[in-house]
Amino acid sequence: MRIVPLGVLISGGGSNLQAIIDQIEAGRLSAAVRVVISNVPDAGGLKRAERHGLARQVVDHRLFPSRQDFEAELVRILNEHGVELVILAGFMRLVGPSLLSAFPNRIMNIHPALLPSFPGVHVWQNEVDHGVKLAGCTVHFVDQGTDSGPIIIQAAVPVLDDDDADGLAARILAQEHRIFSKAIQLYAEDRLEVTGRRVHIRGVDPNAGRGVLIHPPLEA
Ligand code: GRF
Repeated sequence: MRIVPLGVLISGGGSNLQAIIDQIEAGRLSAAVRVVISNVPDAGGLKRAERHGLARQVVDHRLFPSRQDFEAELVRILNEHGVELVILAGFMRLVGPSLLSAFPNRIMNIHPALLPSFPGVHVWQNEVDHGVKLAGCTVHFVDQGTDSGPIIIQAAVPVLDDDDADGLAARILAQEHRIFSKAIQLYAEDRLEVTGRRVHIRGVDPNAGRGVLIHPPLEA
């Protein structure tokens, strides 16, 4: 199995980075984290990278005169480390044409909602306030829009009556950790075929996943 060289971009705590590291170290993900880059100097994810002996750098977007210059530095570092697939794991900067053109259909992002619902920020509060019964998370390829690229995998998470934003976020985050590694593994196995907006996953049992999730449960 081919080992996919990853570059992981973070801005915060890095629990998605940690989940990917754990899967790799458990031998369940055919990838290697070649470099972790944070745009936030004191991001907790950098400590996680340090604990696992991973190459890590801070590229503080505030120090660059333009987004283009900032992304040129990201691309330089990613290429310097031989990265093939860029992973946005809680990276809070929009991706512009420089990074996109350097890694076409080779940038994945995790978003804590069932896109195209609830793009952008304050996702969990918006999901609770709107009163949705099913929330969830999405792994997608990044395109020039905001949280708008071809969708690879989604997980639906019921919203409970007593959920607040933090409680819902925690339950969704647990599923993020599962589906992000799965999406990367499917990429490593060369099973993702992108046609326009759609991502066909080669080799999935056509009878798999026919269950439905109804919330609140019909029996309730
Ligand atoms: C996750 O909820 C992710 O969906 C969003 O930012 C959060 C990052 O969390 N993009 P972490 O830094 O991976 O813990």
